[in-house]
Amino acid sequence: MPVVVALAAAMLLLAGTYADVQPQKNFDLQKFSGKWYRVGLAYDSPGFIPYRERFKISMGTVDPQPGGNVSMTMWSIGSSGCRSTVYFYEKTSLPGMFTYFSTRHNMVKDITVVDTNYTDYAIVFKYKKMDKEYSQVALYGRNQKLKPELLKKFKDFSLAHGFPRESILTPTKAENCSSPGK
Ligand SMILES: *[C@@H]1O[C@H](CO)[C@@H](O)[C@H](O)[C@H]1NC(C)=O
Ligand SMILES: *[C@@H]1O[C@H](CO)[C@@H](O)[C@H](O)[C@H]1NC(C)=O
Ligand SMILES: *[C@@H]1O[C@H](CO)[C@@H](O)[C@H](O)[C@H]1NC(C)=O
Repeated sequence: MPVVVALAAAMLLLAGTYADVQPQKNFDLQKFSGKWYRVGLAYDSPGFIPYRERFKISMGTVDPQPGGNVSMTMWSIGSSGCRSTVYFYEKTSLPGMFTYFSTRHNMVKDITVVDTNYTDYAIVFKYKKMDKEYSQVALYGRNQKLKPELLKKFKDFSLAHGFPRESILTPTKAENCSSPGK
């Protein structure tokens, strides 16, 4: 049964790819709060291809809530100016790992802060377990411009988790939309 064998092998491969996704050790939500720029995105989804060229750096603020849940406000520019979208992440028993309901895909997904030093960068992995089509990696920076070694860290992480090189974007241009409240 070669098909079954191939399928089993593919599933093992996927399990291996994602098994090592662990949150940042001793994740500290308070230190993680505040303003971040999303400076990189790896997203291997056919639905994203038409938007690839339009992807720009956007800004967000992470607001921890008293019980450990988090909301994140992302600012982006549209045809009618700046708009904000609020995302809500529910804490799990693992600090640094959250779950959220994706309205776009109508399913619950995990979001994990894989690596951050709080002052400069964060690598964040969103995924639906075992389903690469719905997974993405984002690189956040406290500034819009990050050191080349941090961009490399993000690219290496994305490649190691099965994202093809052409699905990894690091735009340089910022959206003119960095003052919330407008
Ligand atoms: C986090 O959010 C969930 C879903 O809204 C809620 O059920 C839960 O009580 C919240 N946890 C805390 C500690 O506030
Ligand atoms: C965070 O990372 C940046 C870039 O690698 C480094 O310059 C900075 O010193 C780091 N900060 C801490 C607190 O480790
Ligand atoms: C950003 O927007 C402001 C106000 O609309 C405008 O004055 C400024 O030139 C814009 N800057 C860029 C880089 O587009």
